[in-house]
Amino acid sequence: MNLQLKGRRVLITGSSSGIGEAMARMFAEEGAAVVVHGRNRERAEAVASEINAAGVAIGELSTDDLTASVHAEAVAALGGNIEILINNAGGNAAGNTSKSPIEISIEDYVANYQANALGAVRLCKLSVPDMVTAKFGRIVNVSSAVAVQPNYMGTDYSAAKSALNNFTVSLAGSLRGVGVTANVLTPGIIMVDGLLRFGRQKFGNPDMSFEEVSDRFASEKVFEIPPVGRLGMPRDLAMVACMLASPLSGFITGANYRVDGGQVRGLN
Ligand SMILES: NC(=O)c1ccc[n+]([C@@H]2O[C@H](COP(=O)([O-])OP(=O)(O)OC[C@H]3O[C@@H](n4cnc5c(N)ncnc54)[C@H](OP(=O)(O)O)[C@@H]3O)[C@@H](O)[C@H]2O)c1
Repeated sequence: MNLQLKGRRVLITGSSSGIGEAMARMFAEEGAAVVVHGRNRERAEAVASEINAAGVAIGELSTDDLTASVHAEAVAALGGNIEILINNAGGNAAGNTSKSPIEISIEDYVANYQANALGAVRLCKLSVPDMVTAKFGRIVNVSSAVAVQPNYMGTDYSAAKSALNNFTVSLAGSLRGVGVTANVLTPGIIMVDGLLRFGRQKFGNPDMSFEEVSDRFASEKVFEIPPVGRLGMPRDLAMVACMLASPLSGFITGANYRVDGGQVRGLN
């Protein structure tokens, strides 16, 4: 199937590693013009040169000025407005996994809101008006399974992702008949470099592949393995991001696409 992404101008935040990097690779394979983003220029440029990207855009998304500079660098590299915006940058900014909602500091709540919600909001504010003018745009915001199924701890991260879901659905509903869609993409547990390093260390073998570590996690029940019987791989998410970004997906908006192997016990 031809997803009609050839030549489309794409910014993927947080694409110097992990899920975002896999997305950058797949969009490039589909012929899109991709801008790779991260805070570390060297890492972003390494990915960009491997996939023959249009360029890189470097910086934090934690203030209006820094985000405007990332946006401007992306538009300059693309030679036109951003048509497809994948807000993927983020993560558990304060690293809280076992603190209860009232034990977590206000600073950690604010840091996670910055990292997981406001960066995406800022980039949407900068990009959507041009998409509306062009009568085409695709926004895909990367959330987390804990946004819809909180695990009661680490609320600073999960609540920020829930806010991102709410923002996305509201944005979708506000964009009426203008050719611009906004959707949420929700990963379960995905085998990125950080998890690979953790597994290699835990199992005492620095040469284990992603698949081998994932299998050991499953067999030793390090994580609850979802119904499909394995953890996710970054490309599992990339495939759905390309689908949602396609001009063919114009009837999908305000939706939450879970890519979690069946991890979330819910109806959406
Ligand atoms: N992996 C999972 O199991 C999982 C599960 C649920 C949700 N997610 C979500 O998926 C997204 C990608 O996660 P990942 O696991 O692929 O992470 P990752 O491998 O650590 O990659 C994160 C990317 O985002 C950039 N980044 C991180 N924080 C940033 C910030 N504050 N400002 C600007 N750029 C930032 C990083 O680049 P630099 O370090 O160079 O800045 C890197 O390119 C995140 O939103 C995360 O919350 C992941």
